[in-house]
Amino acid sequence: MNQIKELLQMLRPRGTLKGVAALHSVDDVRRYARKRLPKMIYDFIYGGANDETTLAANRNDFSKITFRPHMLTDVTHRDIKTKVAGIDLDFPVMVSPAGLLRVAHTEGELAIARAAGKTGVVFVVSTAGSWSMEELADAATGPLWFQLYLWRDRDIMKSLVERAKQAGYQALVVTVDLQVVGKRERDLRNGLSIPPKITMRSALDAVKHPRWLFDLIKGPPVTLRNFAGVVEGDGTVSHSAFFNQHLINPSANWEDLQWVRELWKGPLLIKGIITPEDAVKAVDCGVDGIVVSNHGGRQLDGVPSAVRSMVDIVDAVGNRTDIILDGGIRRGSDVVKAVALGARAVMAGRSWIWGLAAAGQAGVERVYEIFAQEIDQTLALLGRTRLNKIDESAVNLPASWTTSRKENSKCQ
Ligand SMILES: Cc1cc2nc3c(=O)[nH]c(=O)nc-3n(C[C@H](O)[C@H](O)[C@H](O)COP(=O)(O)O)c2cc1C
Repeated sequence: MNQIKELLQMLRPRGTLKGVAALHSVDDVRRYARKRLPKMIYDFIYGGANDETTLAANRNDFSKITFRPHMLTDVTHRDIKTKVAGIDLDFPVMVSPAGLLRVAHTEGELAIARAAGKTGVVFVVSTAGSWSMEELADAATGPLWFQLYLWRDRDIMKSLVERAKQAGYQALVVTVDLQVVGKRERDLRNGLSIPPKITMRSALDAVKHPRWLFDLIKGPPVTLRNFAGVVEGDGTVSHSAFFNQHLINPSANWEDLQWVRELWKGPLLIKGIITPEDAVKAVDCGVDGIVVSNHGGRQLDGVPSAVRSMVDIVDAVGNRTDIILDGGIRRGSDVVKAVALGARAVMAGRSWIWGLAAAGQAGVERVYEIFAQEIDQTLALLGRTRLNKIDESAVNLPASWTTSRKENSKCQ
């Protein structure tokens, strides 16, 4: 009997709903996904730039912030809704834009769009998606935002913005931290190319993950479908070389942002700001929100963590615009800390991608359940009932983080 059970266990496909229900933290989901993915793909998602110090700081700095809970308050009814740039959000954790997600799971961004619609999560669709923005809008049942890079060619940019408007995207998020692609050494060592190509080098790794390989080849080739017929990879250049040669605009400047502001009348957010000076400029350019982000540690290594950067940005412009924190969010308690420090909501990238890689739509939904349960539990244990009413009195900051904050308030 036991032998039959064991055999059935071995035959049960990885990534079933039953399988992911046994995962209790985002890190459990990541470990599960890791087993399913070839190293090249796991590294592409996990990795940061250079020595990955910013990648590590994004995570580690959350543990430097501690909670100040109050007891004996009635926390029977709890509410985690919030509002960003005039848009009501049922859930405070959005899906950060991420490109080429069909390498993680055959359905890629489609599975995220379906899961996000079901759970009320905002999905920020990347320009560099492996499905086009129209295909995703057709599959989605919930709110979608669109992420735009300041590409070299203004005609391409204009047509992307118009297509996003046409397809019903609610808000536009302009990413500004990709003047060139960061040095992602894992990708260079693994020989990652666009579209992913099976070479002798990667074949062995792929063969060890037959389900992933079967998944990959059963769908259409992994390409940047928003650029079909405009610019496509031929599998001969590295991931970063492809972006650097074809798409990225090293001359992008604040005038380009103003140009987009005139083109897009709806809510406009800027993603990739990490200093108060730039935050002030962005607000002066008319953005409706700032996503404080270092691209998940994938661009300039050596910048402070996203949460540390956010503390100073909230001081500078928190009363003039809405702040979203992006980077290192793996726990519901991280979300509560970010909101206490002035974020209206957060975005998470890898957390959702691990869910996708683990089990497609069911995996993304499992990550939602984990976040929802942890945020709710943290609120209750803090003695608070409404996420959007939490302020800095709910946390202790490391002494060195508060210096500039105190100096600022003396001057006012
Ligand atoms: C695989 C991957 C692809 C990404 N692609 C994009 C992208 O196309 N556009 C963008 O603005 N950011 C992109 N990012 C950055 C994320 O939007 C986000 O800033 C980052 O993942 C946040 O850090 P976290 O993963 O620790 O949550 C990508 C990140 C990853 C991991």
